Amino acid sequence: MGLISDEVIETVRLRSDIVEVVSRYVQLKKKGKYFTGLCPFHQDRTPSFTVTPDKQIFHCFGCNTGGNVFKFLMLKENLTFVEAVSLLAEQAGIAVSSNESPAEREREHKWRRLRQINSLAMDYYYYIRQRHDAAARARKYLAERGISGDILERFMVGYALPDWDSLLLYLKKKGYQAQEVAEAGLAVKTENGKYYDRFRQRIILPIWDAIGRVVGFGGRILDHSLPKYINTPETALFSKGNLLYGLHLARGAIREKGFVVIMEGYMDVISAHRYGITNAVASLGTSLTREQGRLLTSYNKNIVVAYDADVAGVAATMRGLDLLQELGCHVRVVNIPDGKDPDEFLQKQGYEPWENLINQAPSLIEYKLQQAVSKKQVRTVSDKLEVMRKVFPSLSVITSEVEVEENLKVMAGLLNSSPETIAGEFKRYKANKRKKWTYPDNIAKNKHNILNNTKKPSAQEKAEAGLLRLIIEDPSLVVTIQEKLGPEPFSNNSYHKIFKHLHEAINKPVYHFAELFNYLEDDEQTLLSYLLTLEIPGEDRNQVMIDYVECISRCNRQERRMMLLQEISKAEKSGSHWHDLWREYSLLRRIVEAERLGDRKRTANLLQEYQQLIKIDICKHPREGSDGS
Ligand code: GTP
Ligand code: MN
Repeated sequence: MGLISDEVIETVRLRSDIVEVVSRYVQLKKKGKYFTGLCPFHQDRTPSFTVTPDKQIFHCFGCNTGGNVFKFLMLKENLTFVEAVSLLAEQAGIAVSSNESPAEREREHKWRRLRQINSLAMDYYYYIRQRHDAAARARKYLAERGISGDILERFMVGYALPDWDSLLLYLKKKGYQAQEVAEAGLAVKTENGKYYDRFRQRIILPIWDAIGRVVGFGGRILDHSLPKYINTPETALFSKGNLLYGLHLARGAIREKGFVVIMEGYMDVISAHRYGITNAVASLGTSLTREQGRLLTSYNKNIVVAYDADVAGVAATMRGLDLLQELGCHVRVVNIPDGKDPDEFLQKQGYEPWENLINQAPSLIEYKLQQAVSKKQVRTVSDKLEVMRKVFPSLSVITSEVEVEENLKVMAGLLNSSPETIAGEFKRYKANKRKKWTYPDNIAKNKHNILNNTKKPSAQEKAEAGLLRLIIEDPSLVVTIQEKLGPEPFSNNSYHKIFKHLHEAINKPVYHFAELFNYLEDDEQTLLSYLLTLEIPGEDRNQVMIDYVECISRCNRQERRMMLLQEISKAEKSGSHWHDLWREYSLLRRIVEAERLGDRKRTANLLQEYQQLIKIDICKHPREGSDGS
């Protein structure tokens, strides 16, 4: 499915009632303007889950989750955004890909036929495996590997007969041309224009996309001859690098367990299911691609990698890890002992030892350290530096300080150095890196908005929340607020992002705040739904706004004053020019003084003077001063 236009998305949202959708999962009770119920996303004893019909949003005060109707379905059914939109579109009878060109319609038609071919082939192979005399050996093989009953059905395991054209004949009877079967990847065309079945005398493993549509097949030989597997080649529907085997079956479990396990082989995933491990996927034989990584992160960012412990497996793991790390995942790596793969390990050891392996899986950093250290003796200083060079890049993207510290300690132990030395080296590494690129650290620092902060919100935080709440109600305020507080009025990064979208909303003919959720990351969605639960204090909204703005400017000025003091003393020491800094500082002092005395007129005059002053040099704007760290 291609991109869905914003307009269609909004139509779908408007046609779907969040109360009705939520009610399918949660028993809601009406309480004034809200509905409340037990939160479906955490163990909730008191009803802390709310749905607000006039705003078309939900918010849980217990687990701090919130959003619009799409978000609810995404969480509840573990769908991606596009899937959630499509699902509701279907229920509302809205075509998501309307106004297609004739070319698009033709492509759509072709795809539909390819899908039908795949689906028919799956059923055909399954039936053969189940019933056909010629499949006796396959049945025996599967039974010997312990694959039976409902697992065969869950994975729709099939068998392809030895004949050259049994599938082609079957599909011909169903009305499909050989050429189409070849386009679906299930037949091969010879040089003299004849067609034959691609899969012959092999166990057939259908491969599904994330929402459970068959898009291709893997075929395993029954003995030790080569190649062990053949797969559907790249077709319009099948692209190996974009798929993960077993994902459609794993989505619910990924959500429940809070992480996903990536394995190397089809058989590993199938075996995992036999042992009740259903949050497992496989990467189809290649090392993990960026698309696969992205696909995974749209479901969960906690990833456990359980590749084969052979040399190829370790190399593939390394490549995959770097990629997942870049995508912001929290990665751990299972060390399967004795060069086994998950399938073998599970068969020999069973579920509990496996669970232990998963629980003890070292973090990515520890794993890299182990790898770096195990390769050769680490004795000299340059050996140690080499190990650090390998590990620091991964370490520097971790945002939790506790986690970083923990890793530095492990590193110190492995390198036989003191934790202080390692920490010092790491600091130096980061300082060097920051010169080139300061951005990510700031993002990480700001990411924790006031909701995650256990300390009491400051006056400024309260005012920023209140102000943003007002703008959400009425985006036209954006202009006034930027005039008063500058182009970036919020110090909180999440607020800033929401603000940016509000800014864009000014130009839209209609504005619904529930639509905003579509453009926001999880953290900001939660923040937004929280903000929407805040009541706007007082009747006179204009006055409320002025109060907030004044509070924020006052805080900004205070921050600026502190910074100026530091700069002045620095300038004095280095003998550089500090008179401008002093002029600004003393003006700010006088403003505080006037405010303290309650002299409104004088305050207003001084403020005007201050405005003039900062207009001369835009770099001196308080916001700039408070952000640069
Ligand atoms: P079993 O050996 O039956 O347990 O299968 P497995 O799924 O564990 O396979 P293995 O660990 O050997 O390989 C991992 C994955 O790489 C497989 O699931 C396939 O996706 C892929 N693969 C392995 N061998 C081949 C091959 O010969 N050709 C192709 N195209 N892919 C292969
Ligand atoms: Mn295997």
